Amino acid sequence: MTCPQAEDIIFSRVEQAVAADPRMAASLLRLHFHDCFVNGCDASVLLDDTATFVGEKTAGPNLNSLRGFDVVESIKSELEEACPQTVSCADILAIVARDSVVLSGGPTWQVEVGRKDSRSASRQAANNNIPAPTSDVATLIQKFQNLGLSTKDMVALSGAHTIGKARCSSFTSRIGGSGDGGGSEFLQSLQQLCSGSNATLAHLDIATPATFDNQYYINLLSSEGLLPSDQVLLTGSGDVGSLVEAYAMDEMLFFGDFTVSIVRMGRLAPPAGVVGEVRRSCRVVN
Ligand code: HEM
Repeated sequence: MTCPQAEDIIFSRVEQAVAADPRMAASLLRLHFHDCFVNGCDASVLLDDTATFVGEKTAGPNLNSLRGFDVVESIKSELEEACPQTVSCADILAIVARDSVVLSGGPTWQVEVGRKDSRSASRQAANNNIPAPTSDVATLIQKFQNLGLSTKDMVALSGAHTIGKARCSSFTSRIGGSGDGGGSEFLQSLQQLCSGSNATLAHLDIATPATFDNQYYINLLSSEGLLPSDQVLLTGSGDVGSLVEAYAMDEMLFFGDFTVSIVRMGRLAPPAGVVGEVRRSCRVVN
């Protein structure tokens, strides 16, 4: 990327978007994850359906859930004015993810750039690769391992759930009346919140919902993780449970590991031989 103004342009757009809608930081961070887990970080997640492929926006983990597409598109238009066809949509996603964490009070890191955008997308790969909130620990570990990411990457990156929201439909099994902590005040409040609609939103981090900190892990220790896939980490044998405890005790340890792991995630590349481009609009191939 040789567009010296790019990082400043992106940061001020993200800042504006988060000022208008504080949840946007979380939504933008999540987009980078859902991009990288499907054939590498190539902005495939941003493509609309075409006559030749069904895009990823309607995949199970994404439909009625992913947000922030307009923010990314507005950043793209401004960058196309400043430096035509220089900054890929995939690099924009990586940079907005970092800026979102910083604006939420979390750590910063150097974003590696030079990614190319895909010329296709895969709903099927999105359905297969992105872990479900009902996954057990072995499945979570496996989905990360399939891409060359470690158990530690999985536990550290799950800490992203220190910001943002989830729909009741994503944690029905937490409020089904069974499982750990059943009947706790926390679960009762969720039951009440979700009694109306499955689309109602709850904070992923009940204590500090908009701050990027290590509170996510502290919540797990008191059985106040929101998603089943969050709370299940504490039941993980070996490294998993002990990492949760370590991050709950030491925010700097979490910040350090999170930044290492998100850089590793950001290196996930498309399959060898696939030709990419720098899109002019993130929604369509050139
Ligand atoms: C470990 C496996 C993971 C699972 C099973 C998972 C699952 C989910 C689910 C079900 C939601 C709520 C969606 C909804 O109800 O609409 C969510 C939200 C979110 N996820 Fe994850 N996630 C995982 C890992 C990650 C990672 C690695 C990141 C980023 C590094 C991330 C960032 C987020 C953020 C920030 C939100 C809130 C988004 C918003 O408020 O718009 N998640 N996740």
